[in-house]
Amino acid sequence: MQSKTDIAADSFHPLRLQPARRIPSLADDARDGLLSTPRTLPPKYFYDERGSVLFDRICQTPEYYPTRSEAALLDQHAAEIIRRCRPGSILELGSGTSAKTRLLLQTWAEQSGGGRYWPFDVSEEMLLDAAASINHDFPQIAVTPLVGDYTGGLQGLPAMAEPNLTIFLGGTIGNFTHHEAVSFLSELADRMALEDHVLIGMDRHKDTGIIEAAYNDAEGLTALFNLNVLNVLNRELGADFDVEKFRHQAVYNVDGMRIEMYLIARQSMKVCLPALSTEFELEEGERILTEISRKFDDKSANALLVESGLELVQPFLSDNGYFSLVLARRRR
Ligand code: SAH
Ligand code: AVI
Repeated sequence: MQSKTDIAADSFHPLRLQPARRIPSLADDARDGLLSTPRTLPPKYFYDERGSVLFDRICQTPEYYPTRSEAALLDQHAAEIIRRCRPGSILELGSGTSAKTRLLLQTWAEQSGGGRYWPFDVSEEMLLDAAASINHDFPQIAVTPLVGDYTGGLQGLPAMAEPNLTIFLGGTIGNFTHHEAVSFLSELADRMALEDHVLIGMDRHKDTGIIEAAYNDAEGLTALFNLNVLNVLNRELGADFDVEKFRHQAVYNVDGMRIEMYLIARQSMKVCLPALSTEFELEEGERILTEISRKFDDKSANALLVESGLELVQPFLSDNGYFSLVLARRRR
């Protein structure tokens, strides 16, 4: 029997996006992030095969409200979004399993016969599986997976049928600082035609207890997801992190309106990084910041759009106010 991955590999020739600028390698990021204070790692390294599976399981935990809230919003407003945007193509940044996107694709196929869907992700295996499965389930929609790292710039994206609708779901925009998010969305705005739209999932600022529970699920999946980045460093850089000597912490920084996810050393230790020909010491209690996840209010959401050269078309807020979808276009 063919596995899902075999089907994907047979059916698709994914496009590999050439970065428009140099993307730091894992070794560069480890050198810059781990050997300086505060110690940091970029969140994109979470998504190896195991990390992608863990993220998918996190999305199903009772505590992780963003996925359910965003799915409900898409279910409720897909018809209006498609009617307003009339897309000839849909580009999805950081598409993952594309699970929620199906709600939009279904409506697109029904209302206007579909078009081409371009899922774009750094995690190739998951991308190809998702593309194959959508190709199978939506005969009206052509699918071209784009493999690449969107921090390398969007200038290399192929031409897409207009009007284009770009979607960036899950609250992933919140994994950028304000400055990074503005750079990223400005690049997107620059390549948008006047009739194009962008739909951005933004998690909302709310009660600390609700947010912290979502990033400290009782099953411990977020902890495994966080700790897994050390396995990535061990595998890819020959590092010797002892994963057992770290614990996961996710705290909501109320003033900064962001979750901060850390790996904390349970004891002092020495870590070797052979790929960098170096080693470094961690004290007991020292932290590595592995992810920020910003939560927005109207003011910060608006500032982000305005500073990026976008203008709000329509905000969609979930009934409990937990999550929002923001539809925007290039500023006139
Ligand atoms: N959009 C999905 C997945 C969100 S998880 C959802 O809403 O559930 C974030 C996704 O972005 C992952 O699939 C990850 O592989 C991808 N990603 C993270 N950093 C990326 C980068 N620099 N370039 C491309 N994809 C990236
Ligand atoms: C992908 N991103 C929006 C998730 C988030 O909520 O910031 C990643 C995640 N990290 C821990 N849990 C989920």
